[in-house]
Amino acid sequence: MKIYVPREADANESRIAIVPDIVEKLAALKADVYVDNNLGAHLNISNEAFINAGATIVENHNDIIKQAELILRVKASDDEVLQQATPNTIHVSFLNPPLEPDLVEAMCRMQLTALSMEYIPRITRAQPMDALTSQANLAGYYSVILAANRLNKVFPMMTTAAGTVLPARVFIIGVGVAGLQAIATAKRLGAKVFAYDTRLVVEEQVKSLAAVFVKADIGETGETEQGYAKELTPEQMELQRKAMCKACKDADVVITTAQIFGRKAPIIITDEIIQEMEPGTMIIDLAIDTGGNVEGALPDGEVIKHGVKIVTIKNMPGKVALDSSKLYANNIYHFIKEGWSQEQNKFIIDANDELINSTLITLNGHNQLTDKGGS
Ligand code: NAI
Repeated sequence: MKIYVPREADANESRIAIVPDIVEKLAALKADVYVDNNLGAHLNISNEAFINAGATIVENHNDIIKQAELILRVKASDDEVLQQATPNTIHVSFLNPPLEPDLVEAMCRMQLTALSMEYIPRITRAQPMDALTSQANLAGYYSVILAANRLNKVFPMMTTAAGTVLPARVFIIGVGVAGLQAIATAKRLGAKVFAYDTRLVVEEQVKSLAAVFVKADIGETGETEQGYAKELTPEQMELQRKAMCKACKDADVVITTAQIFGRKAPIIITDEIIQEMEPGTMIIDLAIDTGGNVEGALPDGEVIKHGVKIVTIKNMPGKVALDSSKLYANNIYHFIKEGWSQEQNKFIIDANDELINSTLITLNGHNQLTDKGGS
């Protein structure tokens, strides 16, 4: 099977979908791997490293795009690569289907078979393929490093001859994969850490990291079978905002990571709450890629509201692109290996397999997401 890894269509996407180690593993499956010219140059991964691992470097898309049977990418885009691909080519990437309906329709029109890495099910067998987790973990880490770097205070307590410096107070909203890593990183840096999530099972996890769980009485919340938070009612959101206000007022840094799978992120920190916060406080909105948790946050950048600095970075895992690429490429490899037929020497679309079925977004011109009932 011919596998092609073109460069990302979005020039701001610093991650890549394959690294030399994974080329070697795919070559061991007897796949023919083609890699775009200088795909990894910005990460100091040379063409030679890919060639030594068994890949062929592609100077010009047109040479390979019509023959490629499987295209691997970090993100999809309705660009020249997709437009030139042959019908039935399989495309594996993050796709964010509910928020990218036009792209999904375009892939249907082009008769491509699209598999979305966001939809890897959260079952034990699929853990090595769970790209949302591998990327969220790094984003959580980086958000704290970013805050520590930009804050005009230090994180740990310091007792010195010149006086005592109190530890920074870090409040984390949303304790999924990113939130847990943010707690662990902030603790390691010596901050006093508080955290909140609507899923009550999280309380134990927060405590096990020696952080304080902030309680809020907002009625029944719960989680889906996949372990995701359910969307709150407008009344519950209002109650939550009131409860968050005090913790935000007491914090030096607030990191928000709250997301609802397949939907826009909820606005938790309103302008009203920001007005109550101490000038100089910093908010890092990690949910910005799905709309953000903070009213007035920029899609990418820094803005000061009522003296509070709101920082957003689109694609936070891309800030540590070497490691996020290695983990993502490994996720992709495990996924491909799972669906690989040794006899046919290719990746098989078996819609009866839970992994394929969950991730399948377009097949033979049909939008599978619609066929599955929307999400
Ligand atoms: P996510 O990125 O969709 O959301 C992040 C966090 O925001 C979640 O913990 C969610 O409960 C929280 N949240 C949503 N609305 C909120 C609100 N209004 N206020 C405060 N918090 C809010 O979730 P993520 O990080 O992808 O993980 C979700 C769950 O899946 C977690 O329980 C995680 O441990 C579990 N998981 C399970 C895996 C498995 O293999 N079984 C693998 C990875 C994660």
